[in-house]
Order: sequence, then C-alpha cells, then structure tokens
Amino acid sequence: MDFRHLGRSGLMVSEISYGNWITHGSQVEEEAAVACVNAALDEGITTFDTADVYAGTRAESVLGRALKGQRRESLEIFTKVYWPTGEGRNDRGLSRKHIMESINGSLKRLQTDYVDLYQAHRFDYETPLEETLRAFDDLVRQGKVLYIGVSEWTAEQIARALKIADDMGFDRIVSNQPQYNMLWRVIETEVVPLCEKEGLGQVVFSPLQQGVLTGKYLPGQPPPAGSRATDDKSGANFIARHVGNEDLLTRVQRLKPLAEQAGLDMAQLALAWVLQNGNVSSAIIGATRPEQVRGNVKAAGVKLGDDLLAEIDKVLEGHIERDPAKTVSPAQRP
Ligand SMILES: NC(=O)c1ccc[n+]([C@@H]2O[C@H](COP(=O)([O-])OP(=O)(O)OC[C@H]3O[C@@H](n4cnc5c(N)ncnc54)[C@H](OP(=O)(O)O)[C@@H]3O)[C@@H](O)[C@H]2O)c1
Repeated sequence: MDFRHLGRSGLMVSEISYGNWITHGSQVEEEAAVACVNAALDEGITTFDTADVYAGTRAESVLGRALKGQRRESLEIFTKVYWPTGEGRNDRGLSRKHIMESINGSLKRLQTDYVDLYQAHRFDYETPLEETLRAFDDLVRQGKVLYIGVSEWTAEQIARALKIADDMGFDRIVSNQPQYNMLWRVIETEVVPLCEKEGLGQVVFSPLQQGVLTGKYLPGQPPPAGSRATDDKSGANFIARHVGNEDLLTRVQRLKPLAEQAGLDMAQLALAWVLQNGNVSSAIIGATRPEQVRGNVKAAGVKLGDDLLAEIDKVLEGHIERDPAKTVSPAQRP
C-alpha cells in the first residue's frame, strides 16, 4: 500500500481506503463484512470510511465490531453527518444540535473515543455556516474529532467555509469527499483547483462507478447474480441509470484491452485512473467480497502513461460528465 497526506494536513491515509455504504448492515451479512475489513487490513488499508446514515446507522456498528481489537493509532476512521438518522425534525442537517448528538451516536457505534475525520455529508442551506463550523471546531477542541472535512460541496461553498474559519480562528476543512471516476469528473474545473490552492485533499467515492467500470455488467445481458444491480434493498436503485445504458456498457467493454495492455484488470485501471490526480488523497472502494479488495488494492502506486489516458478519454467520449454545476446538495434538508 502507498500512503498520501490528507490535503496539506499532517494526517497520512492509505491511497486506497475501504468504505461500507450499501454493503455493511444491508447488502452483505456480517460475516462477509468482517471478511472484507480483514482483507483490507491484510492488504495494508488503514483508512476506513462510513457515515451515520448508512444502513440506518447499522453500518457504523458493523464497522466498529469488525475493527475491534485493532490498534486504534494504526487506523484512520472517517464518518459523516447530515442525512437523516431518525424521524425527528432535528435528526438531520448540520445544526449544532444534530452535529453534537450525531457524533456521540457515531462514537458509540464505532466503539472509539474519536474519529480521525468528521465530514459534512452535504451542504445544509438551512443552517448558518458559522453555526456548523463552530460546532465542528468545538468537537475538535473536545477531542472527539481530529480533522474536519466535507462531502460534495461546491468550490464556492468550500471557499466560504475557509474564509469563515480563517476569520473566526476555527480549524480549517482539510478534505472534500466527491464522486470521482473516469465517467464523473465534475470536480476537475473548480473544486480541484481551489483545493490545490487551499490545501484540501479529495477522498473520492465510487471510483469504480459502483462496479460499472469493472466491466462486469455486459450490454444486453442481465446483471450478474449478487451484484449491486441485483440488490433490491437499496443498491439497485443507485446503479440502475448506468446498468440500463447499453451504449455506456458497450464502451466500458472497450477499456478491457487497454487495461490488459497495462497489465491491469479493469477495476485496477479505474482505480489507478483516479489516483493519477495529485489532489486525490485516497480512493474509497466498496466491496462485497474479500477477493475484490485483494485485487483492487493492486492499483496503489500504479502510473498510467499519457497515451493510455488519452485512449480512455477517446473510448468514453460522450459519457464523461464534466459540468461543475452537477455538484449539488438538497435545497432543503431531506
Ligand atoms: N460521500 C458520499 O456521499 C458517498 C456516496 C457514495 C459512496 N461513498 C463512500 O465511498 C465508498 C465506495 O463507494 P462505492 O461502493 O460506490 O464504490 P465503488 O468502489 O465504485 O463500487 C464498489 C462496488 O463495486 C463492486 N466491485 C468492487 N470491486 C470489484 C471487482 N474487482 N470486480 C467486480 N465488482 C467489484 C462491488 O459491488 P457488487 O459486488 O455488489 O457488485 C462493490 O461493492 C462507500 O462505501 C462510501 O464510504 C460516499
């Protein structure tokens, strides 16, 4: 495994991190979840990402049990707050109340005294930014949180938060967690340049476009058994748009020979692709089986040549989203 700094902070994270959205507490049973976490640890992954909302809070509990007994100092545990964790009107968003209550729940479920990174899971238009940032800063002073990050914020939102932090003397945001992969590149024109300048790193999610870039979904054929596209608990909804797009699936198959020429499989090629961006601190992979983790980690440290990168662009032309306006948070709290 190779390691990078989280933005300009002193914290080092594994280039490939492991996340448990959709999987733990939902798509996969506890035994498979623990096997994946153990495979991640065996392969040198030290950075683990979850959220209070995943599987209705169960995902944090599964991860807490799976990591129990590990040396805490050797792990970086990331979680998030924003999406609803209960029925109440205050069980959501980035108010001081919900942040304070949600972190306590997360720490209990994760069986730890602190998280390394606490991320605002979206921007909350219903809470003054000063209120959110002061609450986060208080958590840092209390030692419950070591670093603060955000997820899917626009460049303008990140810039506003940094200005407030600088004016008020609050801890600065050190990272952003956006979707980023060969097909979804919306951070490249605005978010990445700002973050490079301000010292934030990207911790990117869905680097395999949820499995689509592994080439396992074949055009004109039903999705393989056990794949996310067949997970009717929640996964199928999230991936439907991609697996229903025959032209996209056909193009993705054309990446296979390119991966082979580079001595990689398609998943490794997709992961190595996001890691070519120097502003990416870590790529978070999801997995339902330990073999996926063992194969995917081999993308760490891989360099891709410019010709190969140009070939990939040519193959996927017409399916690459670059519009920065696609980074959106709900206008109202969900
Ligand atoms: N901040 C946010 O809003 C946000 C949103 C989404 C995700 N995330 C974070 O990012 C993490 C990763 O997201 P993701 O799960 O969408 O990432 P991903 O790595 O793009 O997709 C992971 C899925 O692809 C399939 N897969 C993985 N390796 C494979 C291989 N070698 N061959 C074939 N199939 C393979 C598996 O699904 P199947 O086996 O079921 O097909 C696996 O669960 C999440 O766990 C979460 O921590 C954050």
